[in-house]
Amino acid sequence: MRILAIESSCDETACAVVEDGVKVLSNVIATQIDEHRLYGGVVPEIASRRHSENISAVVSKALTDCDMTLSDIDAVAVTYAPGLIGALLVGISFAKGLSLASGKPLVPVHHIAGHIAANYISHEDLKPPYLCLVISGGHSHIVEVLDYTTYRVVGRTRDDAAGECFDKVARTIGFEYPGGKFIDAAAKRGNEKAFSLPQPKVAGSEYDFSFSGLKTAVINLVHNSQQKGEEVNADDVAASFQKTICDILVKKTMLAADNLGYKTLAVAGGVSANSGVREAMQVACDKRGIKLYLPELKYCGDNAAMIGCQGYYDYLAGKRADESLNGIATLSLENI
Ligand code: KG4
Ligand code: ZN
Repeated sequence: MRILAIESSCDETACAVVEDGVKVLSNVIATQIDEHRLYGGVVPEIASRRHSENISAVVSKALTDCDMTLSDIDAVAVTYAPGLIGALLVGISFAKGLSLASGKPLVPVHHIAGHIAANYISHEDLKPPYLCLVISGGHSHIVEVLDYTTYRVVGRTRDDAAGECFDKVARTIGFEYPGGKFIDAAAKRGNEKAFSLPQPKVAGSEYDFSFSGLKTAVINLVHNSQQKGEEVNADDVAASFQKTICDILVKKTMLAADNLGYKTLAVAGGVSANSGVREAMQVACDKRGIKLYLPELKYCGDNAAMIGCQGYYDYLAGKRADESLNGIATLSLENI
């Protein structure tokens, strides 16, 4: 079964054709990041306008890249939540048009469910139930993936998302937006023991995260040095920060895996591309005999292949949308 999938929840206009949830026949991404970088973050109205300009060409390319037309497609999947409303609506409206014109069913897909499903593309042996750490620019969750379409969120961030924390720290030490990948590169050159940074305590759920204290500690460290006229080594800050955030992510995730009895763990979302996170998770999982699944680097960030993959499982579960489908800015995985 072939699904044409559209993703436009943030700043990537993406379309993919995916067969049976795992075989990616085409995968096209038009990124707007160079433009948003000028403003230090995603500007919602610019995002919507660029999606509107790009979507026709992106969808056409996804079809021509795999030598197909709409008549070769069995269903249209689209991200409908969570995300920037104006951005989501461009993809949703376009998908509705395609569904209406072709008579093929429309399948609404949750963006975070898509990130989780990116792991199925690369790992055919990964099957629910398993535990998943979702770390993206907007979300940080520890999720029980009970089956392909049912989730229980057991841990969440109380403030910033992991990616947001990476990006804010990156800006503080002079890297461009989005700075996660620059921190990753700088951390390889720096000394992770150079600075001792706090691991914020979170009252209440033992699996919840809080990253704002860590972010503030880095900002204070850099500003204090600047006030004293001292040059702070950006590579050392990046390495110390990355080590600390990896320690937090590993500690909470392993605690959840141990307590909830999971021997299978996946990591998903843009920050799952981080080499420190990948390495630290692998070491911790090997120690406990947990099988770890990581998405291929090209499927860590926003893309439509992951939406086509999850769209397949949503289709099998009977999920359908009609012409009244709307975008939803915030929607828990538990309510889909
Ligand atoms: O999942 P994603 O593409 O978009 C959202 O759904 O939010 O995640 C984007 C986030 C950004 O904060 C970006 O800096 C971060 O993922 N990111 C990284 C790396 N690559 C992307 N963070 C740390 N290390 C990386 N290598
Ligand atoms: Zn995302």
